[in-house]
Amino acid sequence: MKIGILGVGHIGKTLTQRLAAAGHQVKVANSRGPHTIEADVLSTGGRAVTAAEAVEDVDVVVLSIPLNRLPQVVPLIADVPADTVV
Ligand SMILES: NC(=O)c1ccc[n+]([C@@H]2O[C@H](COP(=O)([O-])OP(=O)(O)OC[C@H]3O[C@@H](n4cnc5c(N)ncnc54)[C@H](OP(=O)(O)O)[C@@H]3O)[C@@H](O)[C@H]2O)c1
Repeated sequence: MKIGILGVGHIGKTLTQRLAAAGHQVKVANSRGPHTIEADVLSTGGRAVTAAEAVEDVDVVVLSIPLNRLPQVVPLIADVPADTVV
């Protein structure tokens, strides 16, 4: 599956590593840009992108950000197609 993950903290990092290792196409983003994502997060094939890119053309979006940051990503999620699982 094509999976976009917002948040590369404790949970987002582990999901990125494990889902990419299982053969999924994984894009991952934080709030500071792809250049700030550590190489070990991407060690199994995940790709660092911007938050906008992470939610584009994917089957599933995983939100792994603090609850008080959710309002920041509402505009991105609003543009996700209705058949994408969030
Ligand atoms: N860790 C746990 O044991 C645990 C248990 C139960 C539930 N949860 C929940 O799971 C979620 C993730 O937890 P966590 O511990 O993995 O969080 P975390 O370690 O605090 O990491 C949060 C991540 O979210 C990113 N982020 C924040 N705002 C963003 C935005 N607007 N766009 C894109 N990325 C953004 C941060 O990137 P920047 O650093 O660049 O801002 C960071 O990579 C939270 O809602 C938490 O409450 C966690």
